[in-house]
Amino acid sequence: REALAASASTLTFKELPHGYDEYMHVADGYNAGVLIRWGDAVTAGAPDFDVNNLTADAQKTQFGYNNDYIGFFPLPQGSNNSTHGLLAINHEYTDRHMMFDGIGEDDLAKQTKEMVDVEMAAHGHTVIEVKKDGDTWTVVPGSQYARRITALDTPMELTGPAAGHDRLKTSADSTGRKVIGTLNNCAGGETPWGTVLFAEENFHGYFKGTLENHPEKRNYERYGIKDASRYAWADHHDRFDLNKEPNEANRFGWMVEYDPYDPNSVPKKRTALGRFKHEGATTIVNPDGRLIVYTGDDQRFDYVYKYVSNGTVDTEDRAANGDLLDDGVLYVGKFDADGTLMWMPLVHGEGPLTAENGFNSQADVLIETRRAADLLGATPMDRPEDVEPNPATSTVFMMLTNNTKRKDEQTDAANPRAANKHGHVIEMIPPGGTPAVRDHASQEFTWDIFLMAGNPANPEDGAQYASGVTENGWLSCPDNVAFDKKGRIWITTDGAPKSGLADGVWAADVEGHGRALTRHFFRTPRGAEMCGPCFTPDDTTLFVAVQHPGDESGSSFANPVTRWPDFTPGMPPRPSVVAITKKGGGVIGS
Ligand code: FEO
Ligand code: CA
Ligand code: CA
Ligand code: CA
Repeated sequence: REALAASASTLTFKELPHGYDEYMHVADGYNAGVLIRWGDAVTAGAPDFDVNNLTADAQKTQFGYNNDYIGFFPLPQGSNNSTHGLLAINHEYTDRHMMFDGIGEDDLAKQTKEMVDVEMAAHGHTVIEVKKDGDTWTVVPGSQYARRITALDTPMELTGPAAGHDRLKTSADSTGRKVIGTLNNCAGGETPWGTVLFAEENFHGYFKGTLENHPEKRNYERYGIKDASRYAWADHHDRFDLNKEPNEANRFGWMVEYDPYDPNSVPKKRTALGRFKHEGATTIVNPDGRLIVYTGDDQRFDYVYKYVSNGTVDTEDRAANGDLLDDGVLYVGKFDADGTLMWMPLVHGEGPLTAENGFNSQADVLIETRRAADLLGATPMDRPEDVEPNPATSTVFMMLTNNTKRKDEQTDAANPRAANKHGHVIEMIPPGGTPAVRDHASQEFTWDIFLMAGNPANPEDGAQYASGVTENGWLSCPDNVAFDKKGRIWITTDGAPKSGLADGVWAADVEGHGRALTRHFFRTPRGAEMCGPCFTPDDTTLFVAVQHPGDESGSSFANPVTRWPDFTPGMPPRPSVVAITKKGGGVIGS
C-alpha cells in the first residue's frame, strides 16, 4: 500500500509513522531544527530568559508564548530571497500552568498583576530577522526589524467603517479609533504588497462582568462573552471588566494589518473585514485587480466570509494600497446541496440589515457581524479554521476542524457528518474554468468536499480520501494550511491526540491520482498542536510552529509530560518555531 500510495502521489518522501511521544519527528531525509523558543531574545538588549523570574519588562523583549501563524517576508523587500528574510509570528494565548511554577490552570485568584502583565506581554506578535547558512536557519541578533507587538502596551488604530463609532469609545479613548494591544492572535496571512494580516480569534475569554442590563448584552452573548474569564486580567486591568468599560470588547475580534518591514508602523484593525473569532485571513488578487480576502469564524456552527475591495491592487506602489482593506464589501457563505456556494453581502440597509433589526449603520453591521450573518441565513459550518486560495489552481480550500455538537438533524451537504470529531476540507471553486480567469469577486461559486478526515479503517468514521491512503496517511482535525509552488496542500492539525496520534503535518496533491492522498510528514511532541506552516518562496524550507507542547491533562510546570525542546531539568516545555529542510538541499516533499 505504501508503494501504491507513493506511485500515485507526486510527493516522494517516505511517510512518517503515526505516533505519540516526547519528541518531534520528521520524515527520513529531512532536518528539523528549533529556530526560536518562548523567552529567546527578540529585540536588542533583551535579557537572558529566566523561567523562574518572569517579568513583563523582559517578556516584552523576548519571544512570546504559543506561536501560531508564521509569515516569511524576504529581504530585501520585494525580492524572492529564500535564505534571508523576516519571520512574522503570532502568539495566540498563554498557559499559566506551564509558565509559572505552582500556578494551576484554574488558579486565577493566585495570579499577581506582574503575572498577568507577563501573560499580556507573551500574547501578540513577533518580527525576527532570519538567515540561512547551509542547512541551518538562525535569528539575526539585535536586528533593526526586530519587534514585539503585545496585548499589554502596543498602540493600534481602528480603521474602516466602524472606526470612530460610539460603540468603540471608552474612557481611555474618546475617539473610538485608538486601542492598546491585541488578543488571541491565531492564524494570519499576507497581502500582495507584503504586509501582514493577523487575526484576533477567541477575544471573548479575556473579559468578565455581568451582562444583565448591559447595553451590549445581545452582541456580547452572540460571541460567548460571560461573567467568567479564562484569565485574571480583569482583576488587574479595568478595561477587561465589562461593567467598568462596557465597549472595550467591541475593540477586539478584528483582523489586524501592519508592515513588518517598518518596525514603527502602527498596526491597524481593519473593521471592514468584520468582527468575529477570526482564525486568520488570506488574500488573492482577482483577475480584475481587486483584492479578495477569505476569512473563517472558528466556532461550531459559525460561518465563512469573503471580502472584495472596491479599489484595485497597485503592484508598483506599496503605499497606494493603504485603503483597500477599509473600502469594500464583506460577504458570508451559503452552501447549497446542489453544489452552489452563494456569497451574500453584509451591507447596511440591504435585506434584513436595517434599523428595525438594530443595525443603524454599516458600523453596526460590522460590530455584530455574526448576528447580521445569522439574519442572512448563512450556512453554519463545522468550525472554519484556515481558508486559503491555492495559487496554482485559484480554488479556495477551507479547513473545517471538527464539530462534535452537530446532531443528525443538523447535518447538511457541506457539513454531512453528525458528531464530526475529525473534521473535513472543502474546496470552493470560483467561476471561470481556468486558474488565470477564475472570478473570486463572483457571488456564485461551486464547492466540493476535498476530504473527510478520520481513520479509513474505522467505517464509523466515514473518512474519505483518495484510495491508497496508508495507515499513517490519515489525519484528524485539519486547522492550518499552506500550498507549495506545485499547488500541493500541506495541512497541520489540532486535536489528533484525541484519536491516539500526535498533531503534525500531512501533505497531498490536489489534482490527478494523488488528489487527497494525504501523507504524513512531521509530528509534534506530546501535548502540542501544529500551527503556522509557511514555505520560503523557493519551497526549500518549511517553517512550522509547535504550539502548547506538553499541555496535556495533569501536566504542569513542575511535572510536564515532555520538556521539549530543551530537555533540561527544571525547564518546562517551550513553544517554538521549527525550520524543516531537505538533507542536501531541495524542494520540501520533492
Ligand atoms: Fe486558534 Fe481556530 O485556532
Ligand atoms: Ca491554537
Ligand atoms: Ca488554529
Ligand atoms: Ca484549532
